[in-house]
Amino acid sequence: MPLVNTKEMFKKAYDEGYAIGAFNVNNMEIVQAITEAAKEMNSPVILQVSSGARKYAKHVYLVKLVEAALADTDLPIALHLDHGDTFELCKACIDGGFTSVMIDGSAHSFEENIALTKKVVDYAHQFNVTVEGELGKLAGVEDDVNVSAEDASYTNPDQVEEFVKRTGVDSLAIAIGTSHGAYKFKPGTKPQLRFDILEEIQKRLPGFPIVLHGASSVPQEYVKIVNQYGGAMPDAIGVPEDMLRQAAKMAVCKINIDSDLRLGMTAAIRKHFVEHPDHFDPRQYLGDARTAIKGIVSHKIKEVLGSNDKA
Ligand code: G3H
Ligand code: 13P
Ligand code: ZN
Repeated sequence: MPLVNTKEMFKKAYDEGYAIGAFNVNNMEIVQAITEAAKEMNSPVILQVSSGARKYAKHVYLVKLVEAALADTDLPIALHLDHGDTFELCKACIDGGFTSVMIDGSAHSFEENIALTKKVVDYAHQFNVTVEGELGKLAGVEDDVNVSAEDASYTNPDQVEEFVKRTGVDSLAIAIGTSHGAYKFKPGTKPQLRFDILEEIQKRLPGFPIVLHGASSVPQEYVKIVNQYGGAMPDAIGVPEDMLRQAAKMAVCKINIDSDLRLGMTAAIRKHFVEHPDHFDPRQYLGDARTAIKGIVSHKIKEVLGSNDKA
């Protein structure tokens, strides 16, 4: 089957109360690990590319890797632009084979966000490409943008109907307390998400797919391995998996995970080098990294998202 957009994926996920994992890809091992896990779990999956990933690996390499994964697995796979911040970037991805794009206008005013998002939607829909918009602002680091906790703001449910109606977006990323990166909550505090806001948005937009960014759980066992094998990560706290399970049963149809894959990969490579100081064949340590990512993705699909056997 060819690459798909997110329309049917989200409809089924909404109706059946699960979510699709959207995992960030930067190189071959990551693409293989995610799609091999999805294949074993018989799960649809979204592979997403940030502008940083596109700069790192080059557009054409990532598209070809994803096409190879598609040929290898024959799964419903969407190739998605993560955090597109300009019309030009979205257009380049639409023209270059992506089936879904995010236009993140959350740094702009409400009116400017609507105008930019609508411009992308009008272009994307001519090519059957689905568009994710964002309302509200997540804290954390993505590419060169670092939003401090003070500048972050929850999505205002009063704005969502107007935003969706005027832009024509296919899904909406919201801010309910998650954030990007490995340090989401202050150590010693209890992680909390504003499920009341999600519930209110769900009421205002019945049947409409919601997206949760910054959804890594930052498993402590991986932080431990990193530190045990020479790393120095401060106390990191992610989103508890119970909360993600709850969100997946609600209107959240797409859950974004990147940091957990980075963490698993780093832990595996650190461990490998300490245990095998004589190794210098990249296939040995990147192989371990790939195995670690595959394990994490399988766990997410089966134990958190509930998208297993939904391909
Ligand atoms: O939300 C951001 C993702 O984790 C991608 O990160 O922009 O460093 O590739 P990146
Ligand atoms: P994490 O940093 O929590 O993995 O979030 C990733 C993300 O939202 C990508 O858009
Ligand atoms: Zn994000």
